[in-house]
Amino acid sequence: MTPDSTIDTIDDVLVVGAGAMGTQIGAAFALAGYTVTTGDLAPEALDQSRDEAQRRLRRLAEKGAFSSEEVDSALERMTYTTDSLEAARTTDFVLEAAVERIDIKRELFAALDEAAPEHVILATNSSTIPSSLLMDATARPDRVCNMHFFNPALVMNCVEVVRNPQTSDATVEAALGMVDRLGKQPVRLNKEIPGFVANRLLGALRNEALRLEADGVASYQDIDVAARTALGHPMGPFELMDLVGIDVSYLIRLSEYEQSGDPADLPHPSVQKLYEQGRYGRKNGRGWYEYTG
Ligand code: 3HC
Repeated sequence: MTPDSTIDTIDDVLVVGAGAMGTQIGAAFALAGYTVTTGDLAPEALDQSRDEAQRRLRRLAEKGAFSSEEVDSALERMTYTTDSLEAARTTDFVLEAAVERIDIKRELFAALDEAAPEHVILATNSSTIPSSLLMDATARPDRVCNMHFFNPALVMNCVEVVRNPQTSDATVEAALGMVDRLGKQPVRLNKEIPGFVANRLLGALRNEALRLEADGVASYQDIDVAARTALGHPMGPFELMDLVGIDVSYLIRLSEYEQSGDPADLPHPSVQKLYEQGRYGRKNGRGWYEYTG
């Protein structure tokens, strides 16, 4: 029988996908003492990820949240590769943060399953693709789960740990233990539901905000003001869409629609329009809002 991974046996983490989420998740793991390899097929994505992780971590040292020694040693523990499968051979834990596309994730999980030692947990950061849709691409469904971080992952304290019907208790415990070591707050989901908990709450607000804007009731700027000043949210729903990424919001809705077949789950036409115009939000300087610098 393959021994289970436990919090004590996990030191080396492979993060697959060097986008905004993968970058900050990797940095958070490194700060917590893990050795982190970030893998991505695109070398330029890895370069950007390295620069962004350095910038974010150095900023934490400037602000005194961590000492410069802690940040320097975290940066020393971070390496980058275009060959995630090679890195998977020697890792203790895999967190996949690639694009929100089920075909790509299934292919990736099958390949990671071939490469990684048998005891290694394969977790996905996906918020819309539950691990039960990935587990059968592997021969270790009991070691597959969702571990869902929020954007920006270095700052946001919540991580949802979601089991599929076959996830073992040992896998759930190991994932919860890692969230604890990261100094973050786990939310344990005992069963899968599209959107999990936090995004379902957010989605209800976002849908209403999009409807109010499309009906001409108020501008997106004013709706954001209402969310911030009347509800005490740190950001309004439109600002948040820009932070998360219009492309990400669009693909998430598309994936929800593909799973449910319910036209009500399709991306809102205003979001689709921004997506088609390439207005992806903060990441490329324009979404609902324009960003400079
Ligand atoms: N990356 C890392 N750190 C960041 C950051 C970023 N992109 N943006 C801001 N920060 C840090 C700042 O350095 C600052 O740190 P400090 O307080 O220690 O100095 C802190 O966050 C506060 O930043 P600001 O003062 O510039 O601005 P705010 O007070 O508005 O905070 C925020 C920024 C933390 C992003 C806050 O606005 C917030 O909490 N927004 C809501 C975020 C949210 O709801 N995220 C969930 C999105 S849904 C999701 O991720 C699910 C997925 O499935 C799509």
